[in-house]
Amino acid sequence: MEIIHVSAECYPVAKAGGLGDVVGALPKYQCKAGHFAKVVMPMYRTKFLYNNEWVVDFKGSASIGIYNFNFTIIKEKTNKLGFDLYLVDIHGLLDREKIYGYSDDTDRFIAFQIAVLTWLNSWQHQPHIIHVHDYHAGLIPFMLKNCYAFRKLAFIKTVLTIHNAQYQGNMGWDRHGLIPEYDSYKWGDLDWKGQINPLASAIKCAWVVTTVSESYMAELRYKSNGLEALFEYEKGKCRGILNGIDNEVWNPETDPYLTNKFSVKGVAAGKKKNKKKICEEYGLDENLPLFVFIGRLVGEKAADILPGAFHNVLYHQHGKACYMILGSGEKAIEAELASITASYKGFYNTQIGYDEALSHRLYAAADFLLMPSRVEPCGLNQMYALRYGTVPVVRSTGGLQDTVKDMGEWEGFGIRFNNATVSDIAHSVYRGIEVYKNKTHMDWMRKYMMRIDHSWESVVEQYTEAYGN
Ligand code: ADP
Ligand code: GLC
Repeated sequence: MEIIHVSAECYPVAKAGGLGDVVGALPKYQCKAGHFAKVVMPMYRTKFLYNNEWVVDFKGSASIGIYNFNFTIIKEKTNKLGFDLYLVDIHGLLDREKIYGYSDDTDRFIAFQIAVLTWLNSWQHQPHIIHVHDYHAGLIPFMLKNCYAFRKLAFIKTVLTIHNAQYQGNMGWDRHGLIPEYDSYKWGDLDWKGQINPLASAIKCAWVVTTVSESYMAELRYKSNGLEALFEYEKGKCRGILNGIDNEVWNPETDPYLTNKFSVKGVAAGKKKNKKKICEEYGLDENLPLFVFIGRLVGEKAADILPGAFHNVLYHQHGKACYMILGSGEKAIEAELASITASYKGFYNTQIGYDEALSHRLYAAADFLLMPSRVEPCGLNQMYALRYGTVPVVRSTGGLQDTVKDMGEWEGFGIRFNNATVSDIAHSVYRGIEVYKNKTHMDWMRKYMMRIDHSWESVVEQYTEAYGN
């Protein structure tokens, strides 16, 4: 099958979170399974762009509203990522340093989608599947079915994967002129509650809709930022497929970011060495259990309650554990988390910012990974933690619920709690501190977790099945 993934992110080209990881891995494993998967994404000014070789694949022009624009599609020359990678260059619009966060993001991503369809329109043949990810590519199923310019593509199957339904890309109807001319009686397929809603439109128009865990799929029907009823109407074509992780990238035995690599057998000694280095660098006590948080500092991840939670545990469990934060996001949360460092030197530290290398080193060094997320469609961090023998401490929601079993259950290996509150976090940290004292139990959990298989190989089959529906 020929599958075209359309996404705003793809690791290692450009990544802001788990979407990038998934789009960097799923196509690679689809290709390994015998499919012909490709990725097309915007051309941002990232390191990957400058450090690799490209050939021009297509040059075209299109319009967004009354503006015409030229675009170029370049292709990575060597199949470095294990699949064909295409970048869409729209001068002045997409070629920026960051992926998101500009006031004209709506125009940028609509122009990107128009360019992708214009490119596909020029092909001599048609792909079997156009697989769109999140709202940034969410207008494609509608445009392909209803825009006159893309009629030729109207019968290609489209699949939407929702990585996060919180972000929907809504815009007022005054912006409808940005979408190429379409059958006007189909306007309802763009609309949700009086606005153009790209995510809702994709849910209505795509052939199949998937999201990244079964529990999140179930949650969406009663909590999806206004789309609850739509998920209820469309439940027949919706399914949850748990993400995999790229075991080639996330492997403590070969991870190039680790100076001390380790296998299942040598996990205790391996983690100890990694922890020693991190503790030396960040002034923490290597003899205490190390809890880490890695992630976006936003409400969804419950980052707003982290400062309170750390104050609580640092005070009440003083001297019994160390904590390290790696994250970026809301400035107020960044500042609050950083300010705690001064009061608890030796026990707490932060690195504000995005640091891929440090994230790998922290998964390897930590004893526990904290994820109190309010919303977690899948969550990759906890799966990386499992692979690196780090006990996940998670709130029971979405994909966290589907991948972590509390240590109080039969063959349990993690810590789960119900509420994103200071008291639930503090209680869970206490449970972690207690279990850490039992070396036999810790060693058993680490080895058990590292053997859990979340590889993409098995997940790819589920997508193939979904495409066939
Ligand atoms: P989300 O996509 O909602 O942010 P996921 O758990 O799916 O959550 O994926 C997060 C990904 O981003 C993981 O690969 C994680 O290691 C990475 N990540 C998040 N914040 C940072 C950071 N500050 N530095 C390095 N990596 C980070
Ligand atoms: C989103 C979700 C996260 C998921 C990731 C990859 O960013 O917030 O839970 O793991 O997408 O699907």
